[in-house]
Formats: sequence, C-alpha cells, structure tokens
Amino acid sequence: MTSRAAAELLDQQDLLAPFRNEFLIPDDAVIYLDGNSLGRTPLATVTRLKQVVENEWAADLINSWDHWLDMPRKVGDRMGLIIGSRPGEVALHDNTTLNIYQGVHIALGLRPDRKVVVVAADEFPTDRFVVEGIAHDLGLTVRPLTADIDLSDVAVVVRSVIDYRTAELCDVAGFTAQARTQGAMVLWDLSHTAGAIEFDVHTLGVELAVGCSYKFLNGGPGAPAWTFVAQQLQSHIQQPIKGWFAQKDQFAMEKPFAPHDDIRRVLLGTPNMLSLVAAEEGIALSGRAGMPAIAKKGRALTKFGLDVIDHFGLTTSTPRDASKRGCHVAVHHPNATQLVKDLASQFKVIADVRPPDIVRLGLSPLTTRFTDVWDGIERLSQLINR
Ligand SMILES: Cc1ncc(COP(=O)(O)O)c(C=O)c1O
Repeated sequence: MTSRAAAELLDQQDLLAPFRNEFLIPDDAVIYLDGNSLGRTPLATVTRLKQVVENEWAADLINSWDHWLDMPRKVGDRMGLIIGSRPGEVALHDNTTLNIYQGVHIALGLRPDRKVVVVAADEFPTDRFVVEGIAHDLGLTVRPLTADIDLSDVAVVVRSVIDYRTAELCDVAGFTAQARTQGAMVLWDLSHTAGAIEFDVHTLGVELAVGCSYKFLNGGPGAPAWTFVAQQLQSHIQQPIKGWFAQKDQFAMEKPFAPHDDIRRVLLGTPNMLSLVAAEEGIALSGRAGMPAIAKKGRALTKFGLDVIDHFGLTTSTPRDASKRGCHVAVHHPNATQLVKDLASQFKVIADVRPPDIVRLGLSPLTTRFTDVWDGIERLSQLINR
C-alpha cells in the first residue's frame, strides 16, 4: 500500500537511517529533495575543516604542503569504493567542466587520426558546450548521439551515465564495448552516478570518466571534480593545460615540462585544500556506508517515489525498472517552475526544476527518508490539484 504509514514503516526498517545523524541538519522541517544538486553537510566535514584551518593552516603554515601536495591523488584513491577504480587511477581537481575539457583532449590525443566528436543533443549543457568549443577550435565535426550511431570514424563520445532529467541509466557496458570495437574513446560523465548507484569502471570496461563530488557524495559547494584514467593509459596521455602540479620534478624551477607518468598528469595548479578535505570527508562517508547498501536504498526510495507519483496520478518519465535508473525522479508538469517555487515557499520542500516541464526530486540514500518522499510528492500533488 502507498501511504504515509507505509513510508513510516520503511523508515523504521531502513538500515541506513542512522547515517542521517551524521549530517548537520539545522531545520528538520525542511524536506530536502535536492541532494542530487548539492548534498547535505556531513558533521565530520565541519570538524575536519576546523581542524585543517586551525592546526594545519594556522599552526603548521607552509609546512602543511608537505602532505597537502598529494591530496588530489590520496582523495582520488577513496573513489575506489565508489566507482571501482584502483589506487592511483583517480585525481580530484577543479570542476567537472574543466575535467571534461581535459578528458576530451586526452581522448583526442589517443585518436589523432579521427576528426569526429559525439555528444547527445540533449546532453547536460556544459558537456555539449565543451565538446562544441573544442570542435570549433580544432576544426572537428560534432555528431549528435543516436541509437544506431556508427562510431568507426569517431574519436570520442562524451556521454552521461545517468540522464540528469529523467534518471535513465544507459547501457554503459554495451556502449563501451561498441566504442572499443569501432575504435572510439568514451568519456563518461558520472556526475549523477557516483554515490548514487553501484558502478565498477573495470567490470564495465570504462577507461576515461569524470564526475563531481558535491551531489550524492556530499563534498560541499564547489567541491573538486575528479578524473578517472585507467592505469594502462596514464603514461601516454596528453592534456591541454600544462601546469606545474603535473610536473615530475615540481620544484626544479628551471626545467622544461616533463610530467609524471601517473594520474598526476591531469593536475594543473594549486588545489583548493579546504574543498579537497571537505570532499574527502563526504566521499569517505559514502565509502563507509558502502555502495551496495546505498544503491539498494536508492532503488527503494525511487520505487517508493514512483509509487507515490502513481498514487497521486502524476506523470513521470523516470524508468520503472530499478536497474535502469539513478537516484532521482522526474515529475512532468507544464507549471514546473512555479510549482518548485511554491513547494519551497509554502511547504519548505526543496526540489529543482529542469526546463521545460520537469520537477526533479533527488533522493539521497544517506539523508532522505521515505517520509520525505511521501511528504514532498503529496505537497506537490496538493499544489497541482488546487
Ligand atoms: C551531468 C553533469 N555534468 C557536468 C556538470 C557540471 O559540473 P561543474 O559545475 O562541476 O563543472 C553537472 C552539474 O550539475 C552535471 O549534472
């Protein structure tokens, strides 16, 4: 049965429920359904930031760089529990847009004879913009992604694993295998995937991926993004922005550029250390909860969300098959923009709008309760039926 009582029962049975206590939640009346744009604040992050500011920055000053220097890679290693990468295959730095820019150039460098780049016409804007910008600068052709696409003259495809509007999960293994057979690279965007569903780069054959850490990984506003480069590619990748953090002998100031042979090749300049330690705490929390448990609750939350959507007769495009969706649900309504505003002002329900007509509800397994799902969608239906 789909009811608030059913939601309460699901909350009582929820093995991950205690994790909500590990977050700073100043107002329990806020129904936060936007964790897929900015995850909540881990308590451990608050403590860690204070400690880094007071003990490392204030007290140890410049000496702290001795251990800060390797943080992009060290925090990257924590992504192993989230995406199945091996130590030394991920580095965190800058934002997703910049990581996509580098990733496309890395792929182009590995396919120098090909002049076609592929991105879906409805891909997340920054992915499209970056691809179009690079194609313009280098005189490449942009081809839209279609179901029957032939990749045999394509250098690189940029593709989201999970659709940012509908939560539809694409066939990563199948598409990666097709690309390999036809000689194309794929740069996967895991922004809505990492920390939401189980994902194993090596089982799936993924060689290049990027994502952010501020959504389901609770890394904080502006938390650094990450790039995964499979070990076997690392020593011969080239990226377009040559900075001194990629330099093998970083402090031999007079030497020409000679980058590391490892994942540090993707680094640029001085990392934002406060953001990086915040990201470490968020990623560690998901690692501790474990992706199998997180993904299982994510499937249950989204199933319950779809049941509540049906119960109130609302319209959704989110896949019914739990193995084919991520951790958010889309409700379609022509007044989506006003509905999202009214949800916040009248009911303290935080959702977001994805034009033209989607009210997007992000269900974060570590913090969202089944009662939040019921309450949020019930309030939405009240507004729609007024
Ligand atoms: C799928 C996807 N790719 C890329 C981005 C852009 O990330 P950033 O602002 O870190 O560059 C986002 C942001 O929400 C996203 O959802």
